[in-house]
Amino acid sequence: MSIDGILAQDKSYENPGEVYRNVEIKYNIAEIPHRAKLQFERLLRIVGNKLENLRDKKVLDLGCGSNSSQLETAQEEYERHYEPWLCRLLYEVGARPIGIDIGDLDNEEFEHYSKDLVDKAALDFIDDGSIDFVNALSFLGATPSPALLARDSINTEQIEENLIKQSLRVLKDTGLYLEDINKIYERNGDAFIIFNSFSEYMRSVRSRESPL
Ligand SMILES: C[S@@+](CC[C@H](N)C(=O)[O-])C[C@H]1O[C@@H](n2cnc3c(N)ncnc32)[C@H](O)[C@@H]1O
Repeated sequence: MSIDGILAQDKSYENPGEVYRNVEIKYNIAEIPHRAKLQFERLLRIVGNKLENLRDKKVLDLGCGSNSSQLETAQEEYERHYEPWLCRLLYEVGARPIGIDIGDLDNEEFEHYSKDLVDKAALDFIDDGSIDFVNALSFLGATPSPALLARDSINTEQIEENLIKQSLRVLKDTGLYLEDINKIYERNGDAFIIFNSFSEYMRSVRSRESPL
């Protein structure tokens, strides 16, 4: 880890806006893409809206974005939109993101692997029950990666099935799998409980904390 990396992890932030500003300066971008902010703020809400609660959380980000991912427009130009912003933000607040993407992640400060997630064994190296959150937003779910969909002879349902099965293995008990902005899958032993909204999930968590 670089000296900058150690300093970043020691910083304490009052609010997400401060985190965004520092990451924007560090990576020389006018504004962090809205999608990354949404994902970051959802994780923040899940941990009780306290940035310090994200510290040391292990977040496995599937199709995390890379320094060579393309914006899927007609011109197929490389765009900063799909750089690994969520992992960078999480790293900045002292979480422990693990980013996986088929694209180039060289020189990123957070733990990262360039891997093809179509490979059934892609997550085999991750220990059982070691991860707090698996994020697959914009890679699977309602808006899957266009690059994934564009590949020949790809069955996204099979890929999703395998990655959900693998996520069940690597997540801690009560760890969460997130692939849509609304749905939350919570590990409960060998299966997931699926919540169709954030508030449904929070109601369930609160009822466990203070049963009537
Ligand atoms: C739409 S981008 C989303 C990036 C990031 N998750 C976000 O929300 O901004 C989809 C990402 O999936 C990656 N990807 C596509 N196919 C992949 C594969 N087979 N294995 C690993 N990553 C893949 C792309 O390189 C791209 O970075």
